[in-house]
Amino acid sequence: MIKTVSPATSLQGTITPPPDKSISQRAAIFSLLHDGVSVIRNYSPAEDPQSALACVELLGAEVTQLDDVVSIKGAGREGIHPMTDELDCGNSGTAMRLLSGLLVGAGTPVKLLGDPSLSARTMTRIIEPLEKMGGYILARNGAYAPLFITREDPLAPMDFELPIPSAQLKSCILLAGLFGETPTRVIETIPSRDHTERLLQLDVKEEGTKKIISASRADKIPNQSYTIPADFSAAAFWLVAGSIVSESELKLEATGLNPTRNALLGILKEMGADITIENERFEGAEPVGDIIVRKSDLKAIDIKKELIPNCIDELPILAVAMAFAEGTSVISGAEELRHKETDRIMAIAKMLDAAGANYEEMNDGLVIRGNPDFSFKSGKFQSFHDHRIAMASAVLSLKGSEDSEIEDAECAAVSYPGFWEDLEILGS
Ligand code: S3P
Repeated sequence: MIKTVSPATSLQGTITPPPDKSISQRAAIFSLLHDGVSVIRNYSPAEDPQSALACVELLGAEVTQLDDVVSIKGAGREGIHPMTDELDCGNSGTAMRLLSGLLVGAGTPVKLLGDPSLSARTMTRIIEPLEKMGGYILARNGAYAPLFITREDPLAPMDFELPIPSAQLKSCILLAGLFGETPTRVIETIPSRDHTERLLQLDVKEEGTKKIISASRADKIPNQSYTIPADFSAAAFWLVAGSIVSESELKLEATGLNPTRNALLGILKEMGADITIENERFEGAEPVGDIIVRKSDLKAIDIKKELIPNCIDELPILAVAMAFAEGTSVISGAEELRHKETDRIMAIAKMLDAAGANYEEMNDGLVIRGNPDFSFKSGKFQSFHDHRIAMASAVLSLKGSEDSEIEDAECAAVSYPGFWEDLEILGS
């Protein structure tokens, strides 16, 4: 589907961004492990969380979905019995990596499949440690899905220092660890999103700059009955749109404000954005609030390696903000972006190129020479089948002087099925 996006003179209104993709998938997977019924409110209708839910059902959970309320009768750690020998994770890296850990822990043989984008993403980062824990994983070319997963040896709990700051890898190892007689300890030096340790109430110790998270069979799996917050990573598109489109004022309700996820707020504020937060509260274990953003003049910023995991999914839309900021902005230490739904450094570069922005692509990031008066006529943007690139391109298109086109725009539904409707509502 090609979407035509018209220039916007102002964005106004209040919306609730879609339910959080990371938390929805964890809620489903953790409910499968819980011995009892979890009632999850505001479960995401987006493609990735629906893929995770379908997998959970095929692994032995009883799932009922009525509008946005999902009720899951868990199978418990002892009740994981696949009803099929193949599970389809669709586009979801979170589902594939978390379920791989769970399956090694449970020791139940299953094949995990992904769509072409997911099947092109390396799984080496989970295969190596899971094999150390006793898992056996047969991957295409040793690194790619489909993954045939089983375990013949006894589970070997371990101490594992994360070689990369990845919440998917951390969660994968902890899920396998939950089946061990002794604790598996994951040691994190650069923080990554902490939804898993929060929602599973795992033991977390700080030792200097290190965080040590433990999981074993002794951990009781908590009931997962809560309301999923709105997705901060989806709100990010409106935070930038509201900052760069003239005379804008937007309110984003009930949005997740987890401090390991929301570095973009601080980054945009440092750039000069006019952002305020109201009504801060908790939904289950997660902080949420209403975010208000108004048009402002932005200035350039340098984003360093340590901050990258805390804004990894927001970098495509941050690049758009940088194109309209006064001065030269730099994103560095972000090589990980090349391993997302597509090579996002390349895709961001192509997006900026299609609008004629001034940038330079580096191995591990981008240099963007911004200009508050940057203007372009129109662009033909490729999404590379990547939801975040499609939505970032749409926000950039609002600043053209004529209509722009986004190719393969339907991929926004991977995380934000209502994105195009919300764009229309806020722009009209
Ligand atoms: C996610 C973690 C991040 C993020 C992805 C979702 C998660 O990936 O980019 O969209 O749900 O844990 P990595 O853990 O691989 O950095």
